[in-house]
Amino acid sequence: MRGKNRLPKTRGCGWAPSNIALSKYWGKRDTELNLPFTSSISISLGHRGAFTCVEVSDRDEYWLNGQLLPADSEFASRTRQYLALFEQCAKHFVVRSRLNIPLAAGFASSACGFAALVLALDDLYDWQLSHIELSILARLGSGSACRSLHDGFVMWQAGQDADGWDSYGVPIDSVWPELCVGMLIVDRSPKAVSSRAAMLATVTSSTLYHQWVEQASKDVQAIHSAILQHDFKTLGEVAELNAMAMHAVIRSSVPPINYSTWETLQIIERVQHIRQSGIQVYLTQDAGPNVQLIFTKEHQETLERLFPAMEVVAPFADYQEVVECLDCNSHETLNTADKLLVHQRGDLHRAFSVVVTRVNSDGECELLMQQRSANKYHSSGKWSNTCCGHPRSYQTMLADAMQRSMEELGIQLTSLQEIGSFIYYANLDSGLIEHELDHVLWTDWQGDLVLHPDRLEVQDYCWVTIERLQQQLRDEPDSYSSWLPQLLTVLRLKLSGDGRV
Ligand code: PMV
Repeated sequence: MRGKNRLPKTRGCGWAPSNIALSKYWGKRDTELNLPFTSSISISLGHRGAFTCVEVSDRDEYWLNGQLLPADSEFASRTRQYLALFEQCAKHFVVRSRLNIPLAAGFASSACGFAALVLALDDLYDWQLSHIELSILARLGSGSACRSLHDGFVMWQAGQDADGWDSYGVPIDSVWPELCVGMLIVDRSPKAVSSRAAMLATVTSSTLYHQWVEQASKDVQAIHSAILQHDFKTLGEVAELNAMAMHAVIRSSVPPINYSTWETLQIIERVQHIRQSGIQVYLTQDAGPNVQLIFTKEHQETLERLFPAMEVVAPFADYQEVVECLDCNSHETLNTADKLLVHQRGDLHRAFSVVVTRVNSDGECELLMQQRSANKYHSSGKWSNTCCGHPRSYQTMLADAMQRSMEELGIQLTSLQEIGSFIYYANLDSGLIEHELDHVLWTDWQGDLVLHPDRLEVQDYCWVTIERLQQQLRDEPDSYSSWLPQLLTVLRLKLSGDGRV
Protein backbone atom coordinates (compact mmCIF):
# COMPACT_ATOMS: atom_id res chain seq x y z
CA MET A 1 0.00 0.00 0.00
CA ARG A 2 1.59 3.24 -1.10
CA GLY A 3 3.07 5.36 1.67
CA LYS A 4 1.21 3.86 4.60
CA ASN A 5 3.01 3.22 7.83
CA ARG A 6 2.14 2.22 11.32
CA LEU A 7 4.20 4.61 13.46
CA PRO A 8 2.84 5.66 16.86
CA LYS A 9 0.24 8.29 16.09
CA THR A 10 2.09 11.34 17.36
CA ARG A 11 3.60 11.36 13.90
CA GLY A 12 2.21 10.40 10.51
CA CYS A 13 4.32 9.69 7.46
CA GLY A 14 3.65 9.19 3.78
CA TRP A 15 5.56 8.64 0.57
CA ALA A 16 4.41 9.61 -2.92
CA PRO A 17 6.13 9.52 -6.30
CA SER A 18 6.52 12.56 -8.46
CA ASN A 19 4.68 12.52 -11.77
CA ILE A 20 5.24 13.99 -15.20
CA ALA A 21 2.23 14.75 -17.37
CA LEU A 22 2.24 13.22 -20.84
CA SER A 23 -0.97 15.04 -21.62
CA LYS A 24 -0.97 18.24 -19.58
CA TYR A 25 -3.35 19.88 -17.20
CA TRP A 26 -3.46 23.56 -18.02
CA GLY A 27 -6.29 25.77 -16.83
CA LYS A 28 -8.86 25.54 -14.07
CA ARG A 29 -12.61 25.72 -14.25
CA ASP A 30 -12.50 26.32 -10.47
CA THR A 31 -9.45 28.03 -9.02
CA GLU A 32 -10.34 27.32 -5.36
CA LEU A 33 -10.87 23.59 -5.83
CA ASN A 34 -8.25 23.15 -8.57
CA LEU A 35 -10.76 21.68 -10.98
CA PRO A 36 -9.41 21.36 -14.53
CA PHE A 37 -11.09 22.00 -17.85
CA THR A 38 -9.60 18.81 -19.29
CA SER A 39 -8.48 15.40 -18.13
CA SER A 40 -4.75 14.71 -18.11
CA ILE A 41 -2.44 11.67 -18.01
CA SER A 42 0.86 11.28 -16.20
CA ILE A 43 3.58 8.79 -15.54
CA SER A 44 4.78 8.49 -11.94
CA LEU A 45 8.52 8.60 -11.49
CA GLY A 46 9.08 5.32 -9.59
CA HIS A 47 11.10 5.94 -6.45
CA ARG A 48 11.62 9.62 -7.24
CA GLY A 49 9.30 11.61 -5.02
CA ALA A 50 8.61 12.91 -1.53
CA PHE A 51 8.66 11.34 1.90
CA THR A 52 6.89 13.53 4.43
CA CYS A 53 6.30 13.27 8.17
CA VAL A 54 3.85 15.47 10.02
CA GLU A 55 3.45 16.08 13.77
CA VAL A 56 1.02 18.20 15.73
CA SER A 57 2.90 20.99 17.48
CA ASP A 58 2.47 24.32 19.27
CA ARG A 59 4.23 26.05 16.38
CA ASP A 60 4.46 25.78 12.59
CA GLU A 61 7.74 24.47 11.24
CA TYR A 62 8.45 23.29 7.71
CA TRP A 63 11.61 21.37 6.94
CA LEU A 64 12.74 20.53 3.44
CA ASN A 65 15.60 18.09 2.93
CA GLY A 66 16.83 18.72 6.47
CA GLN A 67 16.63 22.53 6.33
CA LEU A 68 14.20 24.66 8.29
CA LEU A 69 12.47 26.91 5.77
CA PRO A 70 11.90 30.62 6.37
CA ALA A 71 8.22 31.20 7.22
CA ASP A 72 7.82 33.45 4.15
CA SER A 73 9.27 30.98 1.65
CA GLU A 74 6.96 29.73 -1.10
CA PHE A 75 7.03 26.14 0.18
CA ALA A 76 6.20 27.28 3.75
CA SER A 77 3.36 29.57 2.76
CA ARG A 78 1.74 27.02 0.41
CA THR A 79 2.01 24.32 3.07
CA ARG A 80 0.60 26.62 5.78
CA GLN A 81 -2.28 27.63 3.53
CA TYR A 82 -3.03 24.00 2.78
CA LEU A 83 -2.81 22.83 6.39
CA ALA A 84 -5.31 25.55 7.33
CA LEU A 85 -7.88 23.23 5.69
CA PHE A 86 -7.26 20.87 8.60
CA GLU A 87 -7.39 23.44 11.40
CA GLN A 88 -10.16 21.50 13.09
CA CYS A 89 -7.62 18.72 13.62
CA ALA A 90 -4.79 20.95 14.83
CA LYS A 91 -3.74 24.58 14.67
CA HIS A 92 -0.04 23.95 14.13
CA PHE A 93 2.04 21.25 12.51
CA VAL A 94 5.70 20.43 12.07
CA VAL A 95 6.23 19.06 8.58
CA ARG A 96 9.45 17.37 7.49
CA SER A 97 9.77 16.52 3.80
CA ARG A 98 12.52 14.83 1.90
CA LEU A 99 12.45 14.96 -1.88
CA ASN A 100 14.79 13.03 -4.12
CA ILE A 101 13.96 15.02 -7.25
CA PRO A 102 15.32 18.42 -8.22
CA LEU A 103 13.23 21.02 -6.38
CA ALA A 104 11.10 23.55 -8.23
CA ALA A 105 12.74 22.62 -11.50
CA GLY A 106 9.65 21.52 -13.36
CA PHE A 107 9.79 18.01 -11.93
CA ALA A 108 6.47 18.29 -10.14
CA SER A 109 7.85 18.68 -6.63
CA SER A 110 4.52 20.14 -5.51
CA ALA A 111 2.67 17.10 -6.93
CA CYS A 112 4.57 14.54 -4.86
CA GLY A 113 4.88 17.02 -1.96
CA PHE A 114 1.13 17.47 -1.47
CA ALA A 115 0.34 13.81 -2.14
CA ALA A 116 2.87 12.73 0.51
CA LEU A 117 1.50 15.32 2.94
CA VAL A 118 -2.04 14.01 2.54
CA LEU A 119 -0.83 10.46 3.12
CA ALA A 120 1.05 11.63 6.21
CA LEU A 121 -2.10 13.30 7.59
CA ASP A 122 -4.14 10.19 6.81
CA ASP A 123 -1.55 8.16 8.70
CA LEU A 124 -1.40 10.58 11.64
CA TYR A 125 -5.16 10.63 12.14
CA ASP A 126 -5.75 7.08 10.94
CA TRP A 127 -8.55 8.25 8.63
CA GLN A 128 -7.98 5.28 6.33
CA LEU A 129 -9.23 7.25 3.34
CA SER A 130 -9.63 5.60 -0.04
CA HIS A 131 -7.28 6.43 -2.91
CA ILE A 132 -10.05 8.53 -4.44
CA GLU A 133 -10.53 10.59 -1.28
CA LEU A 134 -6.76 10.98 -0.86
CA SER A 135 -6.49 12.08 -4.47
CA ILE A 136 -9.24 14.67 -4.02
CA LEU A 137 -7.54 16.05 -0.91
CA ALA A 138 -4.17 16.16 -2.65
CA ARG A 139 -5.77 18.02 -5.58
CA LEU A 140 -6.72 20.85 -3.23
CA GLY A 141 -3.01 21.43 -2.56
CA SER A 142 -1.89 21.24 -6.15
CA GLY A 143 -3.89 19.95 -9.11
CA SER A 144 -1.22 17.60 -10.40
CA ALA A 145 -0.81 16.09 -6.88
CA CYS A 146 -4.01 14.10 -7.41
CA ARG A 147 -2.06 11.97 -9.93
CA SER A 148 0.69 11.16 -7.41
CA LEU A 149 -1.27 8.63 -5.33
CA HIS A 150 -0.42 5.79 -7.68
CA ASP A 151 2.58 4.37 -9.47
CA GLY A 152 2.69 3.98 -13.22
CA PHE A 153 0.30 5.74 -15.56
CA VAL A 154 -2.46 7.79 -13.98
CA MET A 155 -5.41 9.57 -15.56
CA TRP A 156 -6.83 12.60 -13.78
CA GLN A 157 -10.49 12.60 -14.79
CA ALA A 158 -11.54 16.21 -15.09
CA GLY A 159 -15.04 15.45 -13.81
CA GLN A 160 -18.06 17.73 -14.14
CA ASP A 161 -19.38 18.24 -10.64
CA ALA A 162 -19.10 21.72 -9.20
CA ASP A 163 -17.90 20.35 -5.88
CA GLY A 164 -15.13 18.29 -7.53
CA TRP A 165 -16.09 14.92 -6.07
CA ASP A 166 -15.69 13.35 -9.51
CA SER A 167 -12.29 14.94 -10.23
CA TYR A 168 -9.43 12.65 -9.14
CA GLY A 169 -6.62 10.43 -10.37
CA VAL A 170 -7.19 6.83 -11.38
CA PRO A 171 -4.44 4.36 -12.32
CA ILE A 172 -4.25 3.08 -15.88
CA ASP A 173 -3.73 -0.65 -15.88
CA SER A 174 -0.59 -0.91 -18.00
CA VAL A 175 2.98 -1.80 -17.12
CA TRP A 176 5.70 -0.70 -19.53
CA PRO A 177 9.08 -1.68 -18.08
CA GLU A 178 11.09 -0.44 -21.10
CA LEU A 179 9.78 3.10 -20.81
CA CYS A 180 12.33 5.71 -19.62
CA VAL A 181 12.09 9.35 -18.68
CA GLY A 182 15.29 11.41 -18.88
CA MET A 183 15.42 14.57 -16.77
CA LEU A 184 17.37 17.42 -18.28
CA ILE A 185 17.90 20.38 -16.00
CA VAL A 186 18.36 23.60 -17.88
CA ASP A 187 17.88 26.01 -15.01
CA ARG A 188 17.37 25.40 -11.28
CA SER A 189 16.20 28.86 -10.34
CA PRO A 190 12.58 29.31 -9.22
CA LYS A 191 10.18 30.20 -12.02
CA ALA A 192 9.32 33.83 -12.49
CA VAL A 193 5.61 33.07 -12.87
CA SER A 194 4.03 30.26 -10.84
CA SER A 195 1.96 27.72 -12.75
CA ARG A 196 -1.04 28.86 -10.71
CA ALA A 197 -0.71 32.48 -11.89
CA ALA A 198 0.18 31.48 -15.44
CA MET A 199 -2.82 29.15 -15.74
CA LEU A 200 -5.15 31.90 -14.64
CA ALA A 201 -3.56 34.35 -17.07
CA THR A 202 -3.88 31.87 -19.95
CA VAL A 203 -7.52 31.04 -19.23
CA THR A 204 -8.55 34.66 -18.84
CA SER A 205 -6.51 36.31 -21.59
CA SER A 206 -5.47 33.90 -24.36
CA THR A 207 -7.69 33.92 -27.42
CA LEU A 208 -6.39 30.42 -28.16
CA TYR A 209 -7.41 28.87 -24.86
CA HIS A 210 -10.56 27.13 -26.15
CA GLN A 211 -8.45 25.50 -28.86
CA TRP A 212 -6.11 24.16 -26.23
CA VAL A 213 -9.06 22.61 -24.38
CA GLU A 214 -10.25 20.92 -27.57
CA GLN A 215 -6.81 19.63 -28.49
CA ALA A 216 -5.91 18.49 -24.97
CA SER A 217 -9.12 16.47 -24.74
CA LYS A 218 -8.19 14.63 -27.95
CA ASP A 219 -4.61 14.13 -26.76
CA VAL A 220 -5.77 12.45 -23.56
CA GLN A 221 -7.72 9.90 -25.57
CA ALA A 222 -4.84 9.27 -27.98
CA ILE A 223 -2.30 8.86 -25.16
CA HIS A 224 -4.62 6.59 -23.24
CA SER A 225 -4.94 4.18 -26.17
CA ALA A 226 -1.22 4.43 -26.97
CA ILE A 227 -0.48 3.39 -23.37
CA LEU A 228 -2.85 0.45 -23.52
CA GLN A 229 -1.39 -0.68 -26.84
CA HIS A 230 2.25 0.07 -25.93
CA ASP A 231 2.39 2.20 -29.06
CA PHE A 232 5.48 4.22 -28.23
CA LYS A 233 5.54 6.30 -31.42
CA THR A 234 2.01 7.64 -30.87
CA LEU A 235 2.65 8.16 -27.17
CA GLY A 236 5.80 10.17 -27.87
CA GLU A 237 4.42 12.18 -30.77
CA VAL A 238 1.22 13.17 -29.00
CA ALA A 239 2.97 13.91 -25.68
CA GLU A 240 5.52 16.15 -27.38
CA LEU A 241 2.97 18.06 -29.43
CA ASN A 242 0.77 18.40 -26.35
CA ALA A 243 3.62 20.03 -24.41
CA MET A 244 4.47 22.32 -27.34
CA ALA A 245 0.81 23.33 -27.64
CA MET A 246 0.66 24.06 -23.92
CA HIS A 247 3.68 26.36 -24.17
CA ALA A 248 2.23 28.01 -27.25
CA VAL A 249 -1.04 28.79 -25.47
CA ILE A 250 0.87 30.02 -22.40
CA ARG A 251 2.88 32.32 -24.65
CA SER A 252 -0.35 33.63 -26.14
CA SER A 253 -1.45 35.02 -22.77
CA VAL A 254 -1.64 38.78 -22.47
CA PRO A 255 0.99 39.82 -21.52
CA PRO A 256 2.83 36.79 -22.88
CA ILE A 257 4.39 34.27 -20.50
CA ASN A 258 7.43 32.34 -21.61
CA TYR A 259 8.94 29.43 -19.68
CA SER A 260 11.55 28.39 -22.27
CA THR A 261 15.11 29.60 -22.30
CA TRP A 262 17.46 29.59 -25.24
CA GLU A 263 18.85 26.29 -23.96
CA THR A 264 15.35 24.76 -23.81
CA LEU A 265 14.82 25.65 -27.46
CA GLN A 266 18.20 24.18 -28.36
CA ILE A 267 17.25 20.88 -26.72
CA ILE A 268 13.93 20.83 -28.56
CA GLU A 269 15.75 21.27 -31.85
CA ARG A 270 18.38 18.69 -30.94
CA VAL A 271 15.78 16.09 -30.06
CA GLN A 272 14.22 16.55 -33.49
CA HIS A 273 17.59 15.98 -35.15
CA ILE A 274 18.27 12.89 -33.08
CA ARG A 275 14.87 11.57 -34.02
CA GLN A 276 15.57 12.17 -37.70
CA SER A 277 18.68 10.02 -37.29
CA GLY A 278 16.41 7.09 -36.36
CA ILE A 279 16.35 7.17 -32.55
CA GLN A 280 12.83 7.28 -31.20
CA VAL A 281 13.04 9.98 -28.57
CA TYR A 282 10.42 12.57 -27.69
CA LEU A 283 10.21 15.29 -25.11
CA THR A 284 7.86 17.00 -22.79
CA GLN A 285 8.16 20.22 -20.79
CA ASP A 286 6.23 21.35 -17.74
CA ALA A 287 5.76 24.96 -16.67
CA GLY A 288 9.48 25.74 -16.54
CA PRO A 289 12.55 25.66 -18.77
CA ASN A 290 13.54 22.07 -18.00
CA VAL A 291 12.88 19.21 -20.35
CA GLN A 292 12.04 15.55 -19.90
CA LEU A 293 12.96 13.11 -22.65
CA ILE A 294 10.78 10.07 -23.26
CA PHE A 295 12.36 7.00 -24.79
CA THR A 296 12.67 3.24 -24.39
CA LYS A 297 15.45 1.24 -22.77
CA GLU A 298 17.09 0.29 -26.09
CA HIS A 299 18.15 3.91 -26.66
CA GLN A 300 19.16 4.70 -23.09
CA GLU A 301 22.91 4.27 -23.57
CA THR A 302 23.01 6.32 -26.76
CA LEU A 303 20.97 9.13 -25.24
CA GLU A 304 23.05 9.14 -22.06
CA ARG A 305 26.10 9.65 -24.28
CA LEU A 306 24.38 12.49 -26.15
CA PHE A 307 23.09 14.12 -22.94
CA PRO A 308 25.71 13.33 -20.26
CA ALA A 309 23.95 15.41 -17.59
CA MET A 310 20.63 13.62 -18.04
CA GLU A 311 19.21 11.64 -15.12
CA VAL A 312 17.24 8.62 -16.28
CA VAL A 313 14.26 7.16 -14.47
CA ALA A 314 12.68 3.90 -15.65
CA PRO A 315 9.40 4.22 -13.73
CA PHE A 316 8.43 0.56 -13.94
CA ALA A 317 11.82 -1.14 -13.96
CA ASP A 318 13.34 1.03 -11.19
CA TYR A 319 10.37 0.39 -8.99
CA GLN A 320 11.23 -3.30 -8.84
CA GLU A 321 14.56 -2.27 -7.30
CA VAL A 322 12.99 -0.47 -4.39
CA VAL A 323 12.83 -1.85 -0.85
CA GLU A 324 10.74 -0.89 2.17
CA CYS A 325 12.79 0.78 4.92
CA LEU A 326 11.83 0.34 8.56
CA ASP A 327 12.26 2.25 11.79
CA CYS A 328 15.01 0.55 13.81
CA ASN A 329 13.04 0.68 17.07
CA SER A 330 9.40 0.27 16.15
CA HIS A 331 10.01 -1.70 12.91
CA GLU A 332 7.27 0.38 11.34
CA THR A 333 7.49 1.41 7.71
CA LEU A 334 9.47 4.59 7.11
CA ASN A 335 9.72 4.90 3.33
CA THR A 336 10.85 3.10 0.25
CA ALA A 337 14.35 3.51 -1.08
CA ASP A 338 16.70 2.31 -3.76
CA LYS A 339 17.75 -1.27 -3.09
CA LEU A 340 21.45 -0.78 -3.70
CA LEU A 341 21.63 2.42 -1.67
CA VAL A 342 19.94 0.72 1.27
CA HIS A 343 22.47 -2.13 1.15
CA GLN A 344 25.34 0.36 0.95
CA ARG A 345 24.14 2.31 3.99
CA GLY A 346 22.97 -0.70 5.99
CA ASP A 347 19.43 0.69 6.52
CA LEU A 348 16.96 -1.68 8.14
CA HIS A 349 14.53 -2.96 5.52
CA ARG A 350 11.95 -5.66 4.99
CA ALA A 351 12.78 -8.99 3.37
CA PHE A 352 11.33 -12.46 3.10
CA SER A 353 12.84 -15.93 3.01
CA VAL A 354 10.78 -18.70 1.47
CA VAL A 355 11.37 -22.20 2.87
CA VAL A 356 9.83 -25.23 1.21
CA THR A 357 10.01 -28.48 3.18
CA ARG A 358 8.86 -32.02 2.43
CA VAL A 359 8.91 -35.36 4.17
CA ASN A 360 11.22 -37.83 2.37
CA SER A 361 10.68 -41.57 1.91
CA ASP A 362 12.48 -42.22 5.25
CA GLY A 363 10.00 -39.97 7.03
CA GLU A 364 12.61 -37.23 7.54
CA CYS A 365 11.89 -33.56 7.01
CA GLU A 366 13.96 -32.02 4.21
CA LEU A 367 14.45 -28.45 3.19
CA LEU A 368 14.78 -27.25 -0.41
CA MET A 369 17.89 -25.10 -0.75
CA GLN A 370 19.23 -23.05 -3.61
CA GLN A 371 22.81 -22.14 -4.41
CA ARG A 372 22.85 -18.48 -5.34
CA SER A 373 24.28 -17.88 -8.77
CA ALA A 374 27.71 -16.37 -9.33
CA ASN A 375 26.02 -13.24 -10.75
CA LYS A 376 24.16 -12.24 -7.58
CA TYR A 377 25.04 -8.83 -6.17
CA HIS A 378 25.93 -10.41 -2.83
CA SER A 379 26.40 -13.85 -1.25
CA SER A 380 27.07 -15.26 -4.72
CA GLY A 381 27.72 -18.98 -4.87
CA LYS A 382 26.44 -19.51 -1.30
CA TRP A 383 23.75 -22.02 -0.34
CA SER A 384 20.65 -20.50 1.14
CA ASN A 385 16.89 -20.74 1.66
CA THR A 386 14.55 -21.92 -1.12
CA CYS A 387 14.27 -18.34 -2.33
CA CYS A 388 14.32 -14.84 -0.89
CA GLY A 389 13.61 -11.26 -1.82
CA HIS A 390 12.30 -7.86 -0.84
CA PRO A 391 8.54 -7.35 -0.79
CA ARG A 392 6.98 -4.13 -2.03
CA SER A 393 5.22 -3.92 1.35
CA TYR A 394 4.08 -6.17 4.18
CA GLN A 395 0.63 -6.31 2.59
CA THR A 396 1.92 -7.61 -0.74
CA MET A 397 4.56 -9.89 0.77
CA LEU A 398 2.96 -13.30 0.16
CA ALA A 399 2.13 -12.45 -3.44
CA ASP A 400 5.64 -11.03 -3.99
CA ALA A 401 7.19 -14.18 -2.50
CA MET A 402 5.11 -16.44 -4.74
CA GLN A 403 6.09 -14.40 -7.76
CA ARG A 404 9.78 -14.55 -6.80
CA SER A 405 9.61 -18.35 -6.34
CA MET A 406 8.16 -18.60 -9.82
CA GLU A 407 10.79 -16.29 -11.32
CA GLU A 408 13.79 -17.92 -9.61
CA LEU A 409 12.82 -21.58 -9.50
CA GLY A 410 9.81 -21.92 -11.78
CA ILE A 411 7.66 -23.29 -8.96
CA GLN A 412 4.10 -22.23 -8.28
CA LEU A 413 3.59 -22.00 -4.50
CA THR A 414 0.05 -21.44 -3.39
CA SER A 415 -0.02 -21.67 0.37
CA LEU A 416 2.80 -19.76 2.02
CA GLN A 417 2.50 -19.09 5.74
CA GLU A 418 4.53 -16.67 7.84
CA ILE A 419 6.06 -18.70 10.69
CA GLY A 420 8.22 -16.04 12.31
CA SER A 421 10.72 -13.31 11.62
CA PHE A 422 14.15 -12.19 12.74
CA ILE A 423 16.46 -9.24 12.36
CA TYR A 424 19.99 -9.64 11.21
CA TYR A 425 22.90 -7.42 10.43
CA ALA A 426 25.87 -8.64 8.42
CA ASN A 427 28.77 -7.15 6.52
CA LEU A 428 28.60 -9.03 3.26
CA ASP A 429 31.39 -10.34 1.05
CA SER A 430 30.70 -7.67 -1.62
CA GLY A 431 31.21 -4.72 0.77
CA LEU A 432 27.45 -4.30 1.14
CA ILE A 433 25.61 -4.44 4.46
CA GLU A 434 22.60 -6.65 5.01
CA HIS A 435 20.30 -5.30 7.71
CA GLU A 436 16.93 -6.93 7.40
CA LEU A 437 13.75 -7.76 9.15
CA ASP A 438 13.37 -11.14 7.50
CA HIS A 439 9.94 -12.77 7.45
CA VAL A 440 10.13 -16.55 7.18
CA LEU A 441 7.47 -17.87 4.78
CA TRP A 442 7.00 -21.60 4.85
CA THR A 443 5.13 -24.27 3.00
CA ASP A 444 5.21 -28.04 3.23
CA TRP A 445 5.26 -29.64 -0.21
CA GLN A 446 3.43 -32.87 -0.91
CA GLY A 447 4.39 -34.98 -3.91
CA ASP A 448 6.91 -34.27 -6.65
CA LEU A 449 8.26 -30.84 -7.28
CA VAL A 450 9.69 -30.06 -10.71
CA LEU A 451 11.96 -27.05 -10.72
CA HIS A 452 12.92 -24.81 -13.65
CA PRO A 453 15.61 -22.59 -12.13
CA ASP A 454 16.62 -19.32 -13.73
CA ARG A 455 20.37 -19.86 -14.03
CA LEU A 456 21.09 -16.17 -13.71
CA GLU A 457 19.65 -16.35 -10.20
CA VAL A 458 20.09 -19.95 -9.10
CA GLN A 459 23.20 -22.02 -9.78
CA ASP A 460 22.01 -25.28 -8.22
CA TYR A 461 19.50 -26.69 -5.76
CA CYS A 462 19.17 -29.66 -3.42
CA TRP A 463 16.98 -31.18 -0.73
CA VAL A 464 18.71 -31.62 2.62
CA THR A 465 17.53 -32.85 6.00
CA ILE A 466 17.50 -30.28 8.79
CA GLU A 467 19.99 -32.34 10.84
CA ARG A 468 22.45 -32.66 7.99
CA LEU A 469 22.20 -28.97 7.21
CA GLN A 470 22.95 -28.09 10.80
CA GLN A 471 26.03 -30.29 10.72
CA GLN A 472 27.21 -28.72 7.46
CA LEU A 473 26.65 -25.23 8.82
CA ARG A 474 29.00 -26.08 11.68
CA ASP A 475 31.58 -27.67 9.33
CA GLU A 476 31.57 -25.14 6.51
CA PRO A 477 29.81 -21.96 7.63
CA ASP A 478 31.30 -19.94 4.75
CA SER A 479 29.43 -21.97 2.17
CA TYR A 480 26.09 -20.66 3.47
CA SER A 481 24.37 -17.30 3.43
CA SER A 482 24.79 -15.26 6.62
CA TRP A 483 21.05 -15.29 7.42
CA LEU A 484 20.60 -19.05 7.15
CA PRO A 485 21.38 -19.95 10.82
CA GLN A 486 18.71 -17.57 12.19
CA LEU A 487 16.24 -18.76 9.60
CA LEU A 488 16.89 -22.35 10.60
CA THR A 489 16.14 -21.52 14.25
CA VAL A 490 12.72 -20.12 13.25
CA LEU A 491 12.03 -23.14 11.05
CA ARG A 492 13.05 -25.68 13.70
CA LEU A 493 10.82 -23.98 16.24
CA LYS A 494 7.86 -24.28 13.90
CA LEU A 495 8.59 -27.86 12.85
CA SER A 496 9.22 -29.11 16.39
CA GLY A 497 6.04 -27.37 17.55
CA ASP A 498 4.22 -29.33 14.84
CA GLY A 499 6.03 -32.55 15.87
CA ARG A 500 7.78 -32.77 12.47
CA VAL A 501 11.39 -32.83 13.78
O1 PMV B 1 -0.40 21.15 -10.16
P1 PMV B 1 0.19 22.46 -10.56
O2 PMV B 1 -0.64 23.58 -10.10
O3 PMV B 1 1.62 22.54 -10.12
O4 PMV B 1 0.21 22.52 -12.18
C1 PMV B 1 0.99 21.68 -12.95
C2 PMV B 1 0.83 21.96 -14.38
C3 PMV B 1 1.81 21.25 -15.28
O5 PMV B 1 2.83 20.63 -14.57
C4 PMV B 1 2.46 22.25 -16.22
C5 PMV B 1 1.10 20.23 -16.16
C6 PMV B 1 0.68 18.96 -15.46
O6 PMV B 1 -0.35 18.40 -15.88
O7 PMV B 1 1.35 18.48 -14.55
